[in-house]
Amino acid sequence: MLLEASNITKVFKGRRGAAPVYAVKDISVTATPGTFVAIVGESGSGKSTLARILLDLISPSEGDVTLDGKTIRGMSGAEHTGYRRKVQAVLQDPAGSLNPRKRVGEAIGEVIRLHRMARGRQEIRQKAVEVLDLVGMTPPEAFMDRYPHELSGGQRQRVLIARALSLNPRVIVADEAVSALDASVKAGVLAIMADLKERLGVGYVFITHDLPVVKKVADYVYVMKDGEIVEHNTKTEIFTQPTHPYTQTLLAAAPSLERATARRSEERKKHS
Ligand SMILES: Nc1ncnc2c1ncn2[C@@H]1O[C@H](COP(=O)(O)OP(=O)(O)O)[C@@H](O)[C@H]1O
Ligand SMILES: [Mg+2]
Repeated sequence: MLLEASNITKVFKGRRGAAPVYAVKDISVTATPGTFVAIVGESGSGKSTLARILLDLISPSEGDVTLDGKTIRGMSGAEHTGYRRKVQAVLQDPAGSLNPRKRVGEAIGEVIRLHRMARGRQEIRQKAVEVLDLVGMTPPEAFMDRYPHELSGGQRQRVLIARALSLNPRVIVADEAVSALDASVKAGVLAIMADLKERLGVGYVFITHDLPVVKKVADYVYVMKDGEIVEHNTKTEIFTQPTHPYTQTLLAAAPSLERATARRSEERKKHS
């Protein structure tokens, strides 16, 4: 399977007479199952706009998204549904993505039912338990009846990954999915994602401003700046031989970022 965005441009109308915003300018990315593709760039560089286009939530102004050569543009309603099943989202804010009044089992079960991934209460429940187990929530039965507020931030993010997995996606688009988590929790969720890549062959378009995370998990990296992709290459090449000055600047800033993060968690320890 190949997910391909080709020459994508997205223009937003300027608010109240302001100039139009070119959020994304003529960019092309590809993703495939079993590969961890990272898209890295600072705030405002157009990452979330690209994510929403890949997720079929908004249409590009120009360019095309194709899945195995088939363009989203020409899809029927049923084909859009199929596309959205195969290309799943795990977004930034787990609290906002989960209905506070729905137990974990219901939240996952509802998606399974909607996409007819299983039939009947028992089978649906079993599938939900299975995906919770896959994301390391053990024993899964203990989490089925919990409400989102009874979970930690890391657990909520795992539930979102589990819910996405219940649809057997080929690619997960994760937009700042671990950015709000503490370092150790973040590492745990990343390890789960990497494990799912190996075990299930799921692929990722992993969107982040967090370079140390990219270094840890990515196979391939696109660097975005001001709506454009300034450089893309294998992770090793990006980190050892960045060619674009912007990538070099990002990398030069990263060690101090890591130091700052370490300092912050030291301070937290002191205060706790
Ligand atoms: N719906 C919208 N209407 C107008 N401008 C938008 C809209 N969504 C995003 N933008 C603008 O597009 C640019 C890219 O935003 P975004 O894709 O959210 O970047 P990132 O996720 O990298 O921070 C920003 O200048 C932002 O203000
Ligand atoms: Mg964003």
